[in-house]
Amino acid sequence: MSTPNQPAHPAESAGSAAANLNDVKIATPAVHDGDEPQERNGKKVKLEGIGPTGRPIREHPEPAPLDHHGPAKIMAMCNQKGGVGKTTSTINLGAALAECGRKVLLVDFDPQGALAVGLGIQPHELDQTVYNAIMERSVSATDVLMKTRVDGVDLLPSNIDLSAAEVQLVAEVGREHTLLRVLRPVMNDYDYVLVDCQPSLGLLTVNALTAADGVIIPLECEFFSLRGVALLIDTIEKVQERLNPKLDIVGILATMYDPRTLHSKEVMARVVEAFGETVFDTVINRTVRFPETTVAGEPITTWAPKSAGAAAYRQLAREVIAR
Ligand SMILES: Nc1ncnc2c1ncn2[C@@H]1O[C@H](COP(=O)(O)OP(=O)(O)OP(=O)(O)O)[C@@H](O)[C@H]1O
Ligand SMILES: [Mg+2]
Repeated sequence: MSTPNQPAHPAESAGSAAANLNDVKIATPAVHDGDEPQERNGKKVKLEGIGPTGRPIREHPEPAPLDHHGPAKIMAMCNQKGGVGKTTSTINLGAALAECGRKVLLVDFDPQGALAVGLGIQPHELDQTVYNAIMERSVSATDVLMKTRVDGVDLLPSNIDLSAAEVQLVAEVGREHTLLRVLRPVMNDYDYVLVDCQPSLGLLTVNALTAADGVIIPLECEFFSLRGVALLIDTIEKVQERLNPKLDIVGILATMYDPRTLHSKEVMARVVEAFGETVFDTVINRTVRFPETTVAGEPITTWAPKSAGAAAYRQLAREVIAR
């Protein structure tokens, strides 16, 4: 059975691969937050130098400044599971990349328009959005994109209009390449284009994957979040084979990690065991600061610049630049 959010895949490898993931043995919970003392031989010791992924902490040096901009690397922020931190990570990674002197375009590819809201823009008031750019040949990305309150970060906004595109695109020639066609003329103006996907593996997400050089998969540190990953990876591999051979998984980003719970640590150990070095060293902790930034309409890097959350997304930006 296919659902609107999960188109049928002949292999339905989700079942088998997900089962494999569930079979993955939990590594010894050597995973900890690096700050709390751990029990070793009955004594509390602080294990220096081990990160939340259970790997030794690595330095992520400041990236070198650029002497010119573009051509942009396009990255799809993708996970068909809802509420895992795609939009939050798009905004904050974008803002952190801009702090490193990179020019960033954020593309809202979700009809909910949450990306715009998180940047203090009301998308329902906009006349033209990414919907017009993908459906009308006379409208280009430059007609639609707007500056944000964050220096170096522009936005291609969306609103509920985009929900019609999923159906309308089906009849288009080259329907999977529509977003790439829209982005191509602005590629030399940016260093990174981050596409915030909707929680679905439908045609809009396939468009994002077809346009992208890489995928970043935000993954909530919660048991059931592993279930859909096999289907997501299956979809990425199909797009890679049939539409976009350059597509690569840049990294899996563990989000909403709670260093105080064994559950978070167990899930993290499973994720690292299953995906190894693909998992970013950077882990985003669960904190109420992120919902607060949505209300404030700005990234954590400007709203709470000294917070641990801001530091985490800055480290992620350095990792992304280095990968
Ligand atoms: N690290 C975090 N700690 C606590 N709350 C978070 C964190 N990251 C995101 N959130 C909150 O969780 C909710 C979902 O996050 P977000 O909108 O980024 O997820 P999403 O994957 O884009 O969701 P959707 O699939 O609906 O587009 C939001 O209210 C957000 O503020
Ligand atoms: Mg979202």
